Amino acid sequence: MKIISVVGARPNFMKVAPLCRELAKHPEVEHVLVHTGQHYDLRMSDAFFVDLGIPAPDIHLNIGSGTHAEQVGRTMIEFEKVVKAEKPDWIVVIGDVNATCACSIVAKKEHVKLAHVEAGLRSGDMGMPEEVNRLVTDRLADLLLAPDRISCANLKAEGVADSRIVFVGNIMIDTLESQREKAASRDVGELVRRELLEAREIPDLPDNGFAVMTMHRPSNVDQIETLKPLVDFLTGEVSRDMPLLWPIHPRARKQLELFGLWDQVRRNIILLNPLGYHDMLRLNMGARVMLTDSGGLQEECCVLGTPCLTLRWNTERPVTLREHGGASVLVGNDVGKIRATYRETLSTQRTPQRPELWDGRTAGRIVESILNA
Ligand code: UD1
Repeated sequence: MKIISVVGARPNFMKVAPLCRELAKHPEVEHVLVHTGQHYDLRMSDAFFVDLGIPAPDIHLNIGSGTHAEQVGRTMIEFEKVVKAEKPDWIVVIGDVNATCACSIVAKKEHVKLAHVEAGLRSGDMGMPEEVNRLVTDRLADLLLAPDRISCANLKAEGVADSRIVFVGNIMIDTLESQREKAASRDVGELVRRELLEAREIPDLPDNGFAVMTMHRPSNVDQIETLKPLVDFLTGEVSRDMPLLWPIHPRARKQLELFGLWDQVRRNIILLNPLGYHDMLRLNMGARVMLTDSGGLQEECCVLGTPCLTLRWNTERPVTLREHGGASVLVGNDVGKIRATYRETLSTQRTPQRPELWDGRTAGRIVESILNA
């Protein structure tokens, strides 16, 4: 059996690592790993392959940056050639990035069976490109591999036949569990000094004595009316309470520079390069509070128990919310709400939580489901 799996952007890489390891245990499977190249920087891409022991991609499409239509269009054109030449039995796509959606369409038009890892997540927010990618991919997939029971229920409510849905758990937690020890052994001060965006003095950073943030979504960084009050709160309040660390995504930096906020940010927040997997996990393990608009970090905070302010009005990952036992609270981008929850969170204890089947063995269930489908 020949399986092509596709990755494109940073959040895909930590999810494909356990899948590659599991597929390698099956000599009857020929596995072809395709990287579309949506993320291409050393720090956004290559470092994850090295750190997580992901084999070098067999095929690289070099799509690069562009508008959504440009990325999806270019990926489809190049991936169609790959599918025609390789003639796989299955194509496995992961998550909700542009590569996921583009390769799903190609798979079905080439009559190849399609499996979606992380099926059924729904934010209900069609303003997010990721939601469009999720809906298209799940509508096309033959095998929908869901990370939690809420996602299974979403798919059923949309009319997906039970026979196509398999509840497998969250593959990202396979990576977290296999890398936890290595991450824990890192020294926070050492890694922060190594990854500083620009040389500066840094204070002591004992566990529980610093905050970590990430923010890159268009809904937070693309309008100055939204971004400026957020920056004022982060620089004027959070960074006054404790050192605030921000491994900064390239698109967030671009927007801060565009809106003239860069100086205010770099003076008050400890800016870091985009971090490798172990460094980010280590910071999450020690953070007193996480402020983020990333989906993956919400899940990691849930399992590590890090109190998490999710800078969004909705989430496709409700299982990570406090009302479901998780560590995250939706605070949107209204500073009044963020401030109130932030103050309250400072007295919250770290409480690790493990949703059903987030047990580190999801990749095995995924491969078994595909082989038996
Ligand atoms: C993508 C995903 C998003 C995920 C995020 C994590 C989609 C629709 N979105 O968003 O779900 O949370 O990745 O990182 O697929 N850039 C670089 N170097 C790179 C890659 C990008 O400098 O290696 C810059 C480019 O200038 C680009 C911008 O970052 O214009 C945004 O990259 P893009 O791939 O369009 O989407 P993300 O915003 O990263």
